[in-house]
Amino acid sequence: MPPRDMLPPNRPHLTMTDPEPAADPAADAAPGAAPRPPRPIRSYVLRTGRMGSGQRRALSELAPRFVLPYQPAVLDTAAAFGRAAPVVLEIGFGMGDATAQIAAALPGTDFIGVEVHEPGVGALLQRIDEGALANLRIVQHDAVEVLEHMVAPGTLGGVHVFFPDPWHKTKHNKRRLIQAGFVRLLTSRLAPGAYLHCATDWQPYAEQMLAVLSAEPALRNSAEGYAPKPAYRPLTKFENRGLKLGHGVWDVVFVKRAPAV
Ligand SMILES: C[S@@+](CC[C@H](N)C(=O)[O-])C[C@H]1O[C@@H](n2cnc3c(N)ncnc32)[C@H](O)[C@@H]1O
Repeated sequence: MPPRDMLPPNRPHLTMTDPEPAADPAADAAPGAAPRPPRPIRSYVLRTGRMGSGQRRALSELAPRFVLPYQPAVLDTAAAFGRAAPVVLEIGFGMGDATAQIAAALPGTDFIGVEVHEPGVGALLQRIDEGALANLRIVQHDAVEVLEHMVAPGTLGGVHVFFPDPWHKTKHNKRRLIQAGFVRLLTSRLAPGAYLHCATDWQPYAEQMLAVLSAEPALRNSAEGYAPKPAYRPLTKFENRGLKLGHGVWDVVFVKRAPAV
């Protein structure tokens, strides 16, 4: 993935996965063969990105300490971090710039970054090393399955979804992460009072985020409509440049309601 900072400032937000998704596998099944089960719609397309030597080294040397292997069983976060602290999950951290900055600024909170893009995992491992960040772990896997299987219901202190792939084309909108079903799953993993924070620079996706989160009965908006940017979310260089050019960024922050008594 090109770092956000390297993208031209005058175009809407990058997407690392906007190339045409692979064709439907059912279409190339042999004649007479039993139809294959439909593939789940993924919010990403895995591509082999270029990996720097530092990222490669970080992957081989640091992954055993900081990458938690995906497993279809609930993760013991206290064992993973060696302490009991609030846990915030970030979905799709990209190259991990914001992730590392937030973890450094909030040492009392533990962070789990979930990302499928291997060079990004290498890049964040480098940052963990440089910043001696003891409160950050990575899971390199599809966040949908991580939430389904590794995260116990009602346990997360927060979820960050910053600049998820916007899937601009109408026919690809179904690949967007923030949809009713996924938000229901996310919400089920939040503790009462915990927050779900999404940010995007693609206005139609911002509108979708606001509509979908507003429609989830277990969530309440922390603001009236879009939220002011919370102080913990760092302003990236890319975003700063876009803002100077008049491009918008929208934050949406909802809180899980306490169960009715
Ligand atoms: C447009 S990038 C944004 C990266 C970063 N948050 C930022 O602000 O620069 C979206 C990222 O989400 C990741 N992603 C998309 N769907 C995912 C999923 N289901 N599980 C884990 N990562 C995912 C992609 O690989 C990509 O790195």
